[in-house]
Amino acid sequence: MEKKLDGTSVIAFLFLMHSVLAVEVKPSINPAVVGGTVTLSLSPSVTLKAGSWAVGESQILTWLGDQQAVFSGYTGRAFVNTTTGALTLSLLSIEDSGLYWVQSSDPKLTARASVSVVEPVSNVSVSVNQSCLTEFQHSAHMKCSMSTGSSLRVVWMNRSSEVTASDRVLLSQENSMLTIPNVTRYDSGPFRCSVFNPVSNGTSDAVNFIISYGPDNMALTVNGLNISFFPSGSNLTMLCAADSNPPAQLQWAFRGKLLNRTDTLLKLHYVVEAQSGPYSCLAFNNHTQTHNHITTHIVISNSGSEHQALNVLLFTLLSLAGLGPSLPDVCHSFRP
Ligand SMILES: *[C@@H]1O[C@H](CO)[C@@H](O)[C@H](O)[C@H]1NC(C)=O
Ligand SMILES: *[C@@H]1O[C@H](CO)[C@@H](O)[C@H](O)[C@H]1NC(C)=O
Ligand SMILES: *[C@@H]1O[C@H](CO)[C@@H](O)[C@H](O)[C@H]1NC(C)=O
Ligand SMILES: *[C@@H]1O[C@H](CO)[C@@H](O)[C@H](O)[C@H]1NC(C)=O
Ligand SMILES: *[C@@H]1O[C@H](CO)[C@@H](O)[C@H](O)[C@H]1NC(C)=O
Ligand SMILES: *[C@@H]1O[C@H](CO)[C@@H](O)[C@H](O)[C@H]1NC(C)=O
Ligand SMILES: *[C@@H]1O[C@H](CO)[C@@H](O)[C@H](O)[C@H]1NC(C)=O
Ligand SMILES: *[C@@H]1O[C@H](CO)[C@@H](O)[C@H](O)[C@H]1NC(C)=O
Ligand SMILES: *[C@@H]1O[C@H](CO)[C@@H](O)[C@H](O)[C@H]1NC(C)=O
Ligand SMILES: *[C@@H]1O[C@H](CO)[C@@H](O)[C@H](O)[C@H]1NC(C)=O
Repeated sequence: MEKKLDGTSVIAFLFLMHSVLAVEVKPSINPAVVGGTVTLSLSPSVTLKAGSWAVGESQILTWLGDQQAVFSGYTGRAFVNTTTGALTLSLLSIEDSGLYWVQSSDPKLTARASVSVVEPVSNVSVSVNQSCLTEFQHSAHMKCSMSTGSSLRVVWMNRSSEVTASDRVLLSQENSMLTIPNVTRYDSGPFRCSVFNPVSNGTSDAVNFIISYGPDNMALTVNGLNISFFPSGSNLTMLCAADSNPPAQLQWAFRGKLLNRTDTLLKLHYVVEAQSGPYSCLAFNNHTQTHNHITTHIVISNSGSEHQALNVLLFTLLSLAGLGPSLPDVCHSFRP
C-alpha cells in the first residue's frame, strides 16, 4: 500500500510588473451610482506613453501614444486620457464593481483601486398580510420591499424608536421581515421601514395594526370614590371602566339580575337601605369574544357609618351567552 505524503503547498506571488513609481489610483467617486460615471486618475499625475486598464480578469482598454483600443463590453463607455492615463467609465452597472488595474511600460508602473457600484434605493414599502389582530392570539408579519437598490441595510421604526430583535420581535431575511409572534395592545404602530445604502436611502409609508384586546383592568367607582358605605337618601353615580378595543359592551346587574342598563354610568336617586347589595358591571368585547366583570358591595344605611362587616353575598354571575348583539364587524377577516 502506497502512503500519500502531505505535500507542502508553495504559494508563489508573481509580480507581473515591478513597480518603480509609487502611484495610486484615485476614483472620482466610490461607491459610484448605477448609470453614473467614474474617473480613475493617477496620483501624483504622471505622463504615460502606453498602458492598459483591466478590472479583475477583464481587459478594458489599451493605449499607445494617442491611439486607444477598447475591448468588447466597454465600447462606447470607456475612455482613457492618453496623456494622464486616467480612465473614465460611464453607464455603470453593479457588475462594474471590482478591482481596477492600470499597467504602463513607459514609465514602468502598476497601480490599482477597488470601486463598488451601488444601485440607489427606490419605492420602499411595507406589506402586511393581516392588519386586524387579537392580543395574545395573533402574530404580526411585516415585509419591507423596494423596487430597486443594492448593498442594503434595513432599519425598522416603531413610532420613533428603532425596533431591534428580542424575545418579542424576530427580524429575518436580512432584516426585511419583521415578525411579532404574540402581539400586545401596544404593538399597533405606526411601523415604518427605512432602507439605506451608501448612495441613497428611502422610507416606507406607515403601517398600523388594529389590535383587539380586553376587557380587562376593570374599575368601578361610586361618586368618584372607592368606598362602599353611603347614607340613605344619597344620589349614587356608579362609573364602570374597562380597557377594551373595540370598547366593551356594558351591562349593569344588581344582586345578579341584569338591570337593562348599558351606559358606563349607573345613576340611583335617593337610595334606600333595600338598595344595598352587590352591584356588578359586566363587560363583553365582541372581537376578542371575552367577558369580564367587577362587583362592588354597596351598603346603604340609616344608622350612619357604624355599619358592621360587609354582607358578602354569594354572587352568581349570570351566564352572559348571547348578551352581545351581532353587529357588523370591520375586523372580521382574520377570524379562523
Ligand atoms: C487629459 O488630461 C489633461 C490633464 O487633466 C487635460 O488637460 C487634457 O485635456 C485631457 N485630455 C483629454 C483628451 O481629455
Ligand atoms: C412601488 O412598489 C409597489 C409595490 O411594491 C409597486 O406596485 C409599484 O409599481 C412600485 N412603483 C415603482 C415606481 O416602481
Ligand atoms: C402571514 O405571513 C406569514 C409569513 O409569510 C405567515 O406565516 C402567516 O401564516 C401569514 N398569515 C396569514 C393570516 O396569511
Ligand atoms: C402571549 O403573551 C402572553 C403574555 O405575555 C402569554 O400569557 C401567552 O401565553 C403568550 N401566547 C403565546 C401563544 O405565546
Ligand atoms: C412599539 O412601541 C410601543 C411604545 O410606543 C411599545 O410598547 C411596544 O412594545 C413596541 N412594539 C414593538 C414590536 O417594538
Ligand atoms: C438619506 O438621504 C438624504 C438625501 O436623499 C440625505 O440627506 C440623508 O443624509 C440620508 N440619510 C442617511 C442616514 O444616510
Ligand atoms: C379601590 O379599592 C380596591 C380594594 O380596596 C383596590 O384594589 C383598588 O385599587 C382601588 N381603586 C382605586 C381607584 O382607588
Ligand atoms: C339628588 O338628585 C336630585 C335630582 O337630581 C337633586 O335634586 C338632589 O339635590 C340630589 N341630592 C343630593 C343629596 O345630592
Ligand atoms: C330595556 O330598556 C329599553 C329602553 O331603555 C326598553 O325599550 C326595553 O323594553 C327594556 N327591556 C327590558 C327587558 O326591560
Ligand atoms: C362590536 O361592538 C362594537 C362597539 O360596541 C360595535 O360598534 C360593533 O358593531 C360590534 N360588532 C359586532 C360584530 O357585534
